[in-house]
Amino acid sequence: MILENAKVLWNKKLGPSYYKVGLQCWNSHLDVVPGQFVMIRIPGQMDPLLRRPFSIHHILIDNGVVKGLEVLYQVVGKGTARLSKVKRNDLVDILGPLGKGFMIPRSARMVFVVAGGIGIAPLFYLISNLEKTRHDMHRPVVFLGGRSKRDILCLEELSKKGLNIHVTTDDGTYGKMGLVTDLLEKRLEKQLPDMICACGPSAMLKKVAVLSEKYNTRCQISLETTMACGMGACLGCAVKIGNGKEKYAHACVDGPVFDLDRFRL
Ligand SMILES: Cc1cc2nc3c(=O)[nH]c(=O)nc-3n(C[C@H](O)[C@H](O)[C@H](O)COP(=O)(O)OP(=O)(O)OC[C@H]3O[C@@H](n4cnc5c(N)ncnc54)[C@H](O)[C@@H]3O)c2cc1C
Ligand code: FES
Repeated sequence: MILENAKVLWNKKLGPSYYKVGLQCWNSHLDVVPGQFVMIRIPGQMDPLLRRPFSIHHILIDNGVVKGLEVLYQVVGKGTARLSKVKRNDLVDILGPLGKGFMIPRSARMVFVVAGGIGIAPLFYLISNLEKTRHDMHRPVVFLGGRSKRDILCLEELSKKGLNIHVTTDDGTYGKMGLVTDLLEKRLEKQLPDMICACGPSAMLKKVAVLSEKYNTRCQISLETTMACGMGACLGCAVKIGNGKEKYAHACVDGPVFDLDRFRL
């Protein structure tokens, strides 16, 4: 884990509240596990004072050399609004990579990837990484859900990969009207994957957990809890994981990706 001053390569607006920032950082991102995250802060700003956590969305490679990383983010408050204002050549503080990412067992051949809105941020890197490193696997099946068409992210990039993608929107402005978990269940009735990987709003994750139990399928979820330090020092990210002896975990060091076997939503 390294703290560095990363140079902003670009900060592109993708829609009313979504952006992608490219950051040049050389040292620390060779072995990033999909699902790991970085803590970002804009230097010289007192408000917000604390770094904000963002999933690693994409690793930038130039001629075989890691050049940096990309973060896909949604503006929801002060920190993300400030981030949306950074420009090419500005510097941002970046700490990472942090946390535990998705661990897809060697025996897994088929993965279903379920994303709600900005939840695609870490899952996109998971998909790219599986495609690059796991030639023994079938191609992942992707389920993308959002409130509206503008909340369906990365569709073009995923389509270019030639993946099987199922899209739903709550208001029916794109794909099938309804919940992404409805399409997931339809698919589970026909085919069981070795693993479901999911990231999105907690209501979606709860439903994914119910389905993974019903269909007896392993499942890993990435949790986007509030975090202050990102390193296990502040207790700000405690999440309940079960009723046994081990009741709480730190999402920042024990997660943000958890195996549902260990977890109770
Ligand atoms: C491991 C991890 C990875 C994440 N990856 C991404 C990512 O790739 N892209 C992205 O856009 N966001 C991601 N998030 C969420 C992101 O960290 C928050 O949206 C951000 O911290 C909000 O900061 P803010 O100052 O703009 O908002 P604040 O002013 O702090 O809060 C504004 C609103 O956002 C809500 N909020 C704050 N933090 C979170 C949170 N962690 N999750 C959900 N809602 C929150 C608050 O309750 C409040 O309603 C991730 C969070 C975690 C823990
Ligand atoms: S964010 Fe501080 S302990 Fe997890």
